[in-house]
Formats: sequence, C-alpha cells, structure tokens
Amino acid sequence: MKIVYKTNNVLTGEEIIYVFNSVGWNKNPENIVDAFLNSYYVTAYHNDTLIGFARAISDGHYYTGIYDVIVTLQYQKKGIAKEMMKMLLDKFKGTYFFLSYTAGNQGFYQKCGFENLPNGMWMDREKSFNLNIDNL
Ligand SMILES: CC(C)(COP(=O)(O)OP(=O)(O)OC[C@H]1O[C@@H](n2cnc3c(N)ncnc32)[C@H](O)[C@@H]1OP(=O)(O)O)[C@@H](O)C(=O)NCCC(=O)NCCS
Repeated sequence: MKIVYKTNNVLTGEEIIYVFNSVGWNKNPENIVDAFLNSYYVTAYHNDTLIGFARAISDGHYYTGIYDVIVTLQYQKKGIAKEMMKMLLDKFKGTYFFLSYTAGNQGFYQKCGFENLPNGMWMDREKSFNLNIDNL
C-alpha cells in the first residue's frame, strides 16, 4: 500500500473533519483549518484521500507540542502514525516535546520514545474559557 506523506499542504475543513469524525471526534471546521494553519503538520494520503495527520506547534528552538495525531480506522496498525511522528520529531529535533494522550494511547507514544512527565501541569480548555482571571 503506497502512503504519501506531505507537510503543510493545503487542506479543506471537510477533509480534516472527515478524519476527526472517523475516530469519533468533532471539531468546528473554521477553527480547525485556522488551527492547522497556525501549526506545522504532516498529512498521510492513500489514493489522494486524506487518511491521517499529526500536528505540532513549536518555537523552533526550545519547545514543541504535539496534537491531533489521528489515522482513520481502516489504516491503523500499519505504522502510519509512527511515520508522521518521526517526521515531527525530526523537524523539531533538539527541542523539548510535550503532548497529552487520550485513554489507551500511552503505549503508542512510548513506542515513539516518550516518557511520562514527573512534574507537568495543564488547564482544561473549558476551564480556561470560563476562568475569572481577576479572581485568581
Ligand atoms: C493512536 C493512533 C494515532 C495510532 O495510529 P497507528 O497508525 O495505528 O499507529 P502505528 O501503526 O504507527 O503504531 C506504531 C506502534 O505503536 C503501537 N501502537 C499503536 N497504537 C497503540 C496503542 N493504542 N497502544 C499501544 N501501542 C500502540 C503499534 O503496535 C506499533 O508498534 P510497533 O512499532 O512495535 O510495531 C491511532 O490508533 C488513532 O488514530 N487513534 C484514534 C485517535 C487518537 O486517539 N489519537 C491519539 C490522541 S492522544
């Protein structure tokens, strides 16, 4: 099976949403195109159909976050996500990499060389949206 990998190629909201929906996730089409435009991303194609992607936000020197690593169901377990991760790790080699994983996916990221953070913190998106900054 010939999988073609691209970086930062033009994407439509529909094809991005198709990949999210295939694994049961949903996103606002306009926001997600904008989010990709603000990221460095790798895409995977089979027969000109988008079947996966992985994106990163980096300062290019110190810190890189990895987000939205997805392969559509029928293409999973063929090494496609790992190949996209390798491309992101190579692109931002020498920076600290951070990510959060969803249930059941810790093992995948361990296969990509990641370890659990001893002292990480985060804030949920809904919490940050509703946060009363004056009351902190
Ligand atoms: C997680 C996901 C991206 C993996 O994609 P994939 O293309 O099937 O993964 P790969 O085939 O590249 O797997 C690479 C290696 O990780 C292993 N692996 C894959 N998914 C795994 C999992 N959930 N747990 C443990 N190991 C896993 C594979 O067995 C393979 O091991 P190997 O190198 O020893 O052969 C895919 O299952 C997916 O899209 N899931 C739904 C979306 C999602 O949850 N994304 C992650 C958000 S945190």
